[in-house]
Amino acid sequence: MLHDELTLKITPTTSTRIDSVDWENLPFGRVFSDHMLVMDYKDGEWQQAEIMPFAALELHPATSAIHYGQSIFEGMKATKDADGNVLIFRPDLNAKRFQESCERMCMPTISESTFVELIQKTVDMDRSWVPSKEGNALYIRPYMFATDDFIGIKPSDTYKFIIFTCPVGAYYSQPVNVKIEEHYTRAAQGGVGRAKTAGNYAASLYPAKLAKEQGFDQLIWTDAKEHKYIEESGTMNIVFEIDGVLVTPSEEMDTILRGITKRSVVEVAEKWGVPVEERKVTVEEVVKALREGRVTDAFGAGTAATIAQIAKIGFRDEVFELPDPKTRGISNKIGTYLNDLKSGKIEDDFGWLLKF
Ligand SMILES: Cc1ncc(COP(=O)(O)O)c(C=O)c1O
Repeated sequence: MLHDELTLKITPTTSTRIDSVDWENLPFGRVFSDHMLVMDYKDGEWQQAEIMPFAALELHPATSAIHYGQSIFEGMKATKDADGNVLIFRPDLNAKRFQESCERMCMPTISESTFVELIQKTVDMDRSWVPSKEGNALYIRPYMFATDDFIGIKPSDTYKFIIFTCPVGAYYSQPVNVKIEEHYTRAAQGGVGRAKTAGNYAASLYPAKLAKEQGFDQLIWTDAKEHKYIEESGTMNIVFEIDGVLVTPSEEMDTILRGITKRSVVEVAEKWGVPVEERKVTVEEVVKALREGRVTDAFGAGTAATIAQIAKIGFRDEVFELPDPKTRGISNKIGTYLNDLKSGKIEDDFGWLLKF
C-alpha cells in the first residue's frame, strides 16, 4: 500500500538491457532504463500504479493530449554516493511544482507524498542504472497527459501518469552562447508560463531554431508585453553577477518557471553571504553593464544543465563576450558545491537529498 490508499504492482523485466549501455559516452535523453511506472486516472480517482518493463504505449488516434495539449511533466536527477546510496535532489519541490502544473492545466493532482514515493520506488527498481561517474546522473521524467478518446475542447476525464528514467551525461558540454530575444515570446502574463506544460516547449522551438542559425545555443526570453524585462533561457533560469551582486529575475510574474536549481543557487549564495537580488531585471541594465564590463559572471540554472556558464550574450547587432568561464568565481563555486552535494562528497547541510 502506498500513501493515499493507492496500491503498487511490480512486474519486473525478464531481460535487462543494462549491459548494452556505453557508460563512458552517455548522451542526454536517448538511453532508457529497464522499467517505467504507469498509473491511470479514471472514474474520478487514481487507479493501481504499476512498475513494468519499459515499453511503447498504445494510443487511440483521438487521444486528447495530442490534439489539445493537456500534458505536463517534471524533471529531476538521481545520483550515487561512494557507498552506493541513491540521492535525489529536492523531489519535494518537483512534487509541488507538478501539483501547480496540474491545477493550471485542469488535471487531477497527485499528493506530494505519493509523487515522491512513486519516484523513489521507480528509481529503486532500476538503481543499478544510476551512474556513479561524476557528471552523469539518472534523469527522472514524470509526466501526465490527457487520454480521453474524444474530439472537443474540455478537460479530459481520464489521464495517464508515467515515470521513466534515463542515465544521462552532460546536457551542455561547454559554456553556452545566448541571444536576448526581442520579438518572439515564450509566455505572456496570465498564460501558462509558470506551468511545466508541453506547449511552452513547442512554442519555443522556432525562435530557438532562428537563434541557432545565428550561432547561438539558446535564447534569453524577455517579457511578452514590452520585451523590456529578462525572463529565463530555454530550460534554465538565468543569473547574472553585476557589480558583485547576483541578480536574477523574480518569479512573482506567472511567466517564469520556478526553477529548483535557481532556488537552490539563491539559498546557497545567501548562506555564503553573497548579495542576491531577485527582482525585475531590465534588458537595458544588463546591456549597459555588459558594455561597461560590469557583468563578471552569467549562468543558466536548471536540472538538465545544472550550472551552465554563459560565454557570450547577443543583443541586436552586438555580441558581448563574458570573462573566461574557468576564471569565474561564483558559478564555478556553486557548480562545484552542487555537484559535490549530489555525489555525497559533502554534508547535506540543507537537508535537500532524498537518500535510499
Ligand atoms: C522553462 C524552464 N525554465 C527553468 C527550468 C529550470 O528548472 P529546474 O531547476 O527546476 O530544473 C526548466 C527546467 O526544468 C525549464 O524547463
